[in-house]
Formats: sequence, C-alpha cells, structure tokens
Amino acid sequence: MRDEIVNLLKKENKISDNTISEIKNIDIDEFSTMVKDLGKEETEYIKESEITKDLKTEYVGKEIYVYKEVKSTNTVAKFLSMHNATNGTVVISEKQTDAKGRSGKSWESPLGGVWLSIILKPNVDQSKFPLITLATGVAVAKTLEKVGVENPEIKWPNDIIINDKKVCGILTEAVAKFNVVENVIIGVGIDANLNVSQFPEELQSGTTTLKEELKREGNENTLIRIFLEEFEKISELFNHEGYEEILKEWRKRSYSIGKIVEVREPFNKYYDGYVVGINKEGALIVEKIDGTYKKVISGECIIKN
Ligand code: BTN
Repeated sequence: MRDEIVNLLKKENKISDNTISEIKNIDIDEFSTMVKDLGKEETEYIKESEITKDLKTEYVGKEIYVYKEVKSTNTVAKFLSMHNATNGTVVISEKQTDAKGRSGKSWESPLGGVWLSIILKPNVDQSKFPLITLATGVAVAKTLEKVGVENPEIKWPNDIIINDKKVCGILTEAVAKFNVVENVIIGVGIDANLNVSQFPEELQSGTTTLKEELKREGNENTLIRIFLEEFEKISELFNHEGYEEILKEWRKRSYSIGKIVEVREPFNKYYDGYVVGINKEGALIVEKIDGTYKKVISGECIIKN
C-alpha cells in the first residue's frame, strides 16, 4: 500500500477522491493520514528536524511534510489543504518529477533545489490575493539577502533575479469550494545548490543558482528556515492590512520598474511599453508607445534591451 501511494504522488496531477478509490479498500481519511506519514519518513538532504530546530514562527512550518520525490508539491499541498492541514502547513520535496511553473509551463526541479509549497487560509477579500504573491517575492528576496546575496531583485510579478538571471519562481494557486477560496497554495522554487549546466540548454542563459552566485554550497534546511520566518513576517503584515508596506518593500527591489517591456497578456494580447510602477492592487502599470496607460493583472512581461 505504501508503494502504491508513493507512486501516486509521483504520478498524479490531481489527487482526487476518484484516484483514491483506485486504491482498493481505503477511505479518504486513512489515505490522507498515509500521505502525511510518508511526509514524515527519513529523507536525505532536507530534514524537518533541521528546519524546525531554530525556527521562530507562530504558525508557518508548525506542520511540515518532506518527501523524497513527488510530482509537484503544489498538488500534494492542495490535497492536504482539503484534509485537515492547518494554516501555514509546508510541503517540501527533494525532487519533483513534473513541477508546475506559471502560464502552464513546466518547472525543472532536480535534487539540490528548494521546492516547497505553503498552505495559507487567508481571511481577507479575494481581491487582495495578488498581493500575497508579491509578498512572497519580498520574503524570498529578504531570505536571499540574509544568506549573502547582494542585490536580489523582483521581476513582476514574482521572479527573483540575481545579476539579470532568474533564481526563483513562485506559483500561487487557489483552492475553492463552492466558489469560495478556502486555501491558497504558494509554491516556491529556489535554484539553490545546483549548477546551471543541470538545466536544459534553452533555459541556461536566463537561469542562475545560489551556488553559482555565492560561489559556495549552502545549507538547504537553513535557507528554508529563514524563508519560513520571512514569509510569516510578511504574511502577518498582509493579515493586518499592511499592504503599503509590502508594496514599498517590493518597489525597493523591483527589477521591472523603469524598463521597456513586451507585455504578453492572456489571449495573445501583446504590446510594448514602459513600466511606470505597480499600483495598490499589485497590478503593473505600463505606459504604451501611444501614451496610454495599461493595468496588467496577469501575464508575462519580457524585458527588452
Ligand atoms: C514560475 O514559473 O516562475 C513558477 C515556478 C514555481 C515552482 C514551484 S517549485 C514548488 C512548487 N511546486 C510546483 O509544482 N511549482 C512550485
């Protein structure tokens, strides 16, 4: 039974009650307990005990599950969020077999990176959700500053950039029940102890890793602990409507403001413009060539030289 569940976590895009019924004679609560138990088994590099040893948080990381290999930590976190996982639960995997990136892209996740998802049960209006993603970007940037990166920047909405190359991506997904968002899953991928040569060739020129930037290997467990602390600090700001402070921290580290970009909005709406800033909803404000202003809520922004 254990092996069947291990395989399912490596294979399934969505862990639903249907997939579970494929595993005979097991009820959903028993199944979720087994998924949680698997996340408490011995792993090689990432250790819950190391992360929690000096962890100074109230709720983020009070429940942590670490896997050797899953398809996507966001998928496992989504499932657990619907099965009694508490606010601030963290799902980590040493490797992901088919991780998700933004805009339907895939995300490379070999051994040596930090691949995690946090379950949040935010008690605020849905219109504020884009700010959670921006806040997470700030938490990652502050974490990198603490481990010695000199000038991490944030490319809208939340790619973390070092020396013009991407080192971290964030994917936020909402879990709704009867159209009400009950949980937000925040997936964070940091290229930590990796070499750029481990990535597919087409990604190499735009990618960097902490190991290459800092010219040394770091401890993934320490990195995760610092991030969870930074994340809780900024989500507390968020919970107490400190939106302006979050935006101030984001703007201070912005890679996008002041640049000429190609905006790629959904449904193939592409245009060039100059990034003026971000507004209080977290949308990017772009001045088009014709002098009109656009508010970009979702999509990609390619920086042009
Ligand atoms: C991006 O495209 O920039 C977002 C990448 C997000 C990757 C992380 S790794 C942990 C979590 N699990 C996933 O499947 N994706 C996110």
